[in-house]
Amino acid sequence: LSTTDVDISTIQPGQSVTIVWRGKPVFVRRRLPEEIADAGKVNIAELRDPQADADRAKKAEWLILIGVCTHLGCVPLGQKPADPRGEFGGWFCPCHGSHYDTSGRIRKGPAPANLPVPPYQFTSDTTVRIG
Ligand code: FES
Repeated sequence: LSTTDVDISTIQPGQSVTIVWRGKPVFVRRRLPEEIADAGKVNIAELRDPQADADRAKKAEWLILIGVCTHLGCVPLGQKPADPRGEFGGWFCPCHGSHYDTSGRIRKGPAPANLPVPPYQFTSDTTVRIG
């Protein structure tokens, strides 16, 4: 299937889950207000891969990313609340130490680019369609 519907009704604030879309991990994270605030106050000009948080999340509470490190393709940690999330509170790639922020943007380490945002749309208040 080229699209995958995800029931987001059971995802708790602060939690990130991983689903599979086209054979790739996709992270669906329900962000806390402070995580959204952190993502929004970054000086975009200082980013390695400059992107505004508002251009990456259609609804600020929900961040949806392809979970493949842009360095050499490991799956970054940060899915569970107990996972290490790196120095910027988003995801941490243990393979070579890339740190992503609460918008999934690369902030430190060897990865050249942000975690990509897949195509998606909200088809109801509780369902998001990836693809
Ligand atoms: Fe993620 Fe190298 S694959 S830091």
